Amino acid sequence: APLVVAIDGPSGSGKSSVSRRAASRLGLAYLDTGAMYRAATWWCLDQGLALDDTDAVAAAVAAMPLSMGVDPQAPTVHVGGTDVGEAIRTTEISAQVSAVATNLAVRAELGRLQREAIAEQTRPGSFSGGRGVVAEGRDITTVIAPDADVRLLLTASEEARLARRAIDVHGSADAAAVHATRDQVLRRDADDSTVVQFHTAADGVVTVDSSDLDLEQTVDAVLEVVRR
Ligand code: CDP
Repeated sequence: APLVVAIDGPSGSGKSSVSRRAASRLGLAYLDTGAMYRAATWWCLDQGLALDDTDAVAAAVAAMPLSMGVDPQAPTVHVGGTDVGEAIRTTEISAQVSAVATNLAVRAELGRLQREAIAEQTRPGSFSGGRGVVAEGRDITTVIAPDADVRLLLTASEEARLARRAIDVHGSADAAAVHATRDQVLRRDADDSTVVQFHTAADGVVTVDSSDLDLEQTVDAVLEVVRR
C-alpha cells in the first residue's frame, strides 16, 4: 500500500534536509510545499505585483504554471519554462514569502495542488511507482494531509534553529551570522503563525526534537517512527 508521510516544522528545524533523506531511504517521492509558496512569491514579484494586493496575488497564483519535480535526490521547481530552484532561495524571497503565504486564497489554491501531488504519488504510473511520498511544510499534518499514514512535527530549540539557518545563509554560526538571520527567521515564523500552527503537535502527531541530533540521527529518528 502507498505510504504518505507528512512532516511539519518551523524554519531551521531541519525539515527539508531530513524529509529529503527520509524520502530517499524509503524510496518515496518528496514534496517541498515551502518551495511552492516561494515559487508563488517569485512569480508575483516577477510580474511586478504588490504582494499586499490580495486579489491580484490570488489571481496570479491561480494562473501560475507551476511544476514540482519530486525526486528526493534532485527536487526541482519550474514556473513555465523557467527553473526557479535557486531564485526562490534568495533572502529577498525569504523576506517576502509570508505576505503570499498568509493570503488565504493562495493557501486554498496551493493546498489543492499539494493534495493532488500527494494523491498522484499513490498511483502506479507516478514517479514513486505508487509507493508514496514524504510531504513537508507547515500545515501538512493538520490541513493538507491530516489522514497521512505518518504525521511528524520536527522541532528544535530556538538556539539550534537560528544556528542552522545562519550556517545555511552565511556559512557560519558565529554571533554575527546568527544576529544577521535572527530577526528575519523569527519575524517570518511569527507572521506564518498567524495562519498556520506549527509550534505544537496536533492530536496524533509525533514530535521529533532535533536540537541535539545531527542530520543522520534525525533521519534515523524519523525512520524509526515510520517503521512503528
Ligand atoms: O526554509 P524554511 O524551512 O524556513 O521555509 P520553507 O519550508 O521554504 O517555507 C517558506 C515559507 O512558505 C514559510 O515561511 C511559510 O510562509 C510558507 N509555507 C506555508 O505557509 N505553508 C507550508 N505548508 C509551507 C510553507
